[in-house]
Amino acid sequence: MAELTEPRKRKSEETAPAQKRDRKGAARPNILVTGTPGVGKTRAAEAIAARLGLQRLGVSELAKSLKAFEEFDEARQCQVLDEDRVLDAMEPDLGRGGFVVDYHACELFPERWFDLVLVLRVGTETLYDRLTARGYPEPKLQENLQCEIMQVVLEEAREAYAAEVVVELRNESEADLEATLARVAAWRDAWNNS
Ligand SMILES: Nc1ncnc2c1ncn2[C@@H]1O[C@H](COP(=O)(O)OP(=O)(O)O)[C@@H](O)[C@H]1O
Ligand SMILES: [Mg+2]
Repeated sequence: MAELTEPRKRKSEETAPAQKRDRKGAARPNILVTGTPGVGKTRAAEAIAARLGLQRLGVSELAKSLKAFEEFDEARQCQVLDEDRVLDAMEPDLGRGGFVVDYHACELFPERWFDLVLVLRVGTETLYDRLTARGYPEPKLQENLQCEIMQVVLEEAREAYAAEVVVELRNESEADLEATLARVAAWRDAWNNS
């Protein structure tokens, strides 16, 4: 099982970490599953939602259904989100609690939304195989491999959320996913009792 991330000073010490009291009356937590494309966020978010009786919210799918894109980034071969519209659409749900959100970035969301931020990680070979299977063009594949090697999303999560909220988890195998589910279930029980 992966280790808890090292405690780390927040960029802005005066920003209060997300805590249960920030969403007074919320009976259920919100969990963010993040990481480089291909690390297994969607699959993990679905499994966590099913195991915990929460609802999955995929941000890319939501943006698609809202047609909330600004333009297509030709160089990076990806859609650019209209973040304001997507965040506005998410606010009522996230304010209530009970959602497992998955997206390949994490600093765009308000910190107060999430009680737990899971950063999934895989090795380069695994990611190469998964993105090749997806038919990613070579430049996009290389960009994502570099992103994973450089821990870009993990660093982003550590900048944007309190150290105790961010957990880095290996997601190479079925056994890894099972370990994640067991760990998140235990976390939720502790959250319920807090
Ligand atoms: N724990 C795991 N063990 C083995 N394969 C996995 C695991 N998690 C995800 N995968 C596979 O990796 C690929 C990418 O998963 P996906 O959830 O779509 O990633 P993401 O949403 O991060 O882009 C899929 O083929 C999925 O079945
Ligand atoms: Mg996905």
